[in-house]
Amino acid sequence: MSDTPLVRLDGAGKSYGNVIALRDVDLEASPGEVTCVLGDNGAGKSTLIKIVAGLHRHDTGTYTVQGEEVAFSSPREALDLGIATVYQDLAVVPLMPVWRNFFLGSEKRRRLGRLDIPFMRATTRDELHAMGIDLRDVDRPIGTLSGGERQCVAIARAVYFGAKALVLDEPTAALGVKQAGVVLRYIVQARERGLAVIFITHNPHHAYPVGDRFLILDRGRSIGYHTKDEISRDELTGLMAGGAELEQLAHELERGLRKE
Ligand SMILES: Nc1ncnc2c1ncn2[C@@H]1O[C@H](COP(=O)(O)OP(=O)(O)OP(=O)(O)O)[C@@H](O)[C@H]1O
Ligand SMILES: [Mg+2]
Repeated sequence: MSDTPLVRLDGAGKSYGNVIALRDVDLEASPGEVTCVLGDNGAGKSTLIKIVAGLHRHDTGTYTVQGEEVAFSSPREALDLGIATVYQDLAVVPLMPVWRNFFLGSEKRRRLGRLDIPFMRATTRDELHAMGIDLRDVDRPIGTLSGGERQCVAIARAVYFGAKALVLDEPTAALGVKQAGVVLRYIVQARERGLAVIFITHNPHHAYPVGDRFLILDRGRSIGYHTKDEISRDELTGLMAGGAELEQLAHELERGLRKE
């Protein structure tokens, strides 16, 4: 783990007209760590990660990548520095095979520009396998995969194409316990491969088992920023609304993760 965080926001703020969506927020993401961003609807989570992703510019504060100050004007610029973002509504083509989606926009070609289909098939299968997903039939349309599996394909894709930081906006939000467990395991895999992961979620029970740092937002402000040894799961849950209902889910999840 290096001393300089890969991604760092200091006192970041952002307004949309009169709406202050984010006010004076700090965030760090380092290689081999998972930084979780938690908060209720409208807390500013997506605004924060859109700044990191290069989709929005911060109005105040500073943003540095590997110690250099940046001011991105497009997601492409962020991606060029290795910051890849996976949005909840994944931009996939449902009827196209898994391997085709994996290489979408970065197709591997042979001489004369013909697609190297065997390479792309085999690579997709191997990359998914390396991250613990055994998808033998990569010719299946991606639309036939579960939501969790689709998230995993998107994560594996970012890893394969050289992401250093991986930003995930609510990848587990629409998923049941089992599928959420699959995605959480994938997040752990990405961390073990040395990526800096920024994981946005409503759910402290999804965040706690995989997180190293926790930023809790409330109406655009930070109401807590802790490393894992500074905060217990109950304290984290207590900072969030609706914690009690999630208890049962948490126990099931932890049992699932321990089986691994
Ligand atoms: N493009 C926009 N124009 C105006 N206001 C916006 C815009 N995007 C977000 N906001 C406002 O900024 C605040 C923070 O929104 P943001 O989407 O960052 O929250 P969030 O934590 O991601 O919420 P959710 O959990 O619902 O996704 C909200 O009050 C929202 O209404
Ligand atoms: Mg959001």
